[in-house]
Amino acid sequence: MTRFNDTSSLLAFLKSRKSASAKAMTGPGPTPAQLREILALAVRVPDHGKLAPWRFISFTGEARARIGDKFAARWKELHPDHGDDSLAFMKGFMMRAPVVVAVVSRAATHPKIPLWEQQMSAGALAFNVELAAQAHGFDATWITDWVAYDDAARKMIGLVDNEHLTGLIFIGKASAPLEDRPRPDVDQLLTEWSG
Ligand SMILES: Cc1cc2nc3c(=O)[nH]c(=O)nc-3n(C[C@H](O)[C@H](O)[C@H](O)COP(=O)(O)O)c2cc1C
Repeated sequence: MTRFNDTSSLLAFLKSRKSASAKAMTGPGPTPAQLREILALAVRVPDHGKLAPWRFISFTGEARARIGDKFAARWKELHPDHGDDSLAFMKGFMMRAPVVVAVVSRAATHPKIPLWEQQMSAGALAFNVELAAQAHGFDATWITDWVAYDDAARKMIGLVDNEHLTGLIFIGKASAPLEDRPRPDVDQLLTEWSG
């Protein structure tokens, strides 16, 4: 007996799932209630030791413009010779989708659970946010860009010292049909262990 009432639609979803382009995303995004539901599904993720070594920060409405202004100021500091176009891009960076969720890894040294496993759980969580958003009929994409690797940008987002930005999940509706990409060939990836 299957665990799903409608296995074929679940399989069809998994078979066709793909990311949206942040460049071609529009609204509507999830309502606050829908976002809560999406995140409640997302936290059902493998987590060795039940540490919940992660958290979320959401960006909606005007807050997306305010963080964009901060990113642009930092971008100017890092690249004083870059033109107005790249500054405008950074100002609008978070405005590309109606809702952006930062998935934050707060992995820390633990007597039993390796850091790596905690970080992998955060990666699984980020993908689960994407899946849960897509299952709700939204489009989504996972972006890190330079802001995940610049200390000043990470502080602007609200991360503290031991935290890492696993990703920003942009959630909205694609304004154009999603394009797929060639997928890896499983036969090239799989070997059968023969001892
Ligand atoms: C950790 C991580 C970071 C990523 N960061 C970016 C990024 O900064 N910019 C980008 O265009 N795509 C980024 N991607 C790729 C997209 O999220 C996505 O995987 C890609 O567009 C292919 O989409 P697919 O889900 O349909 O395979 C990242 C993916 C991962 C796993």
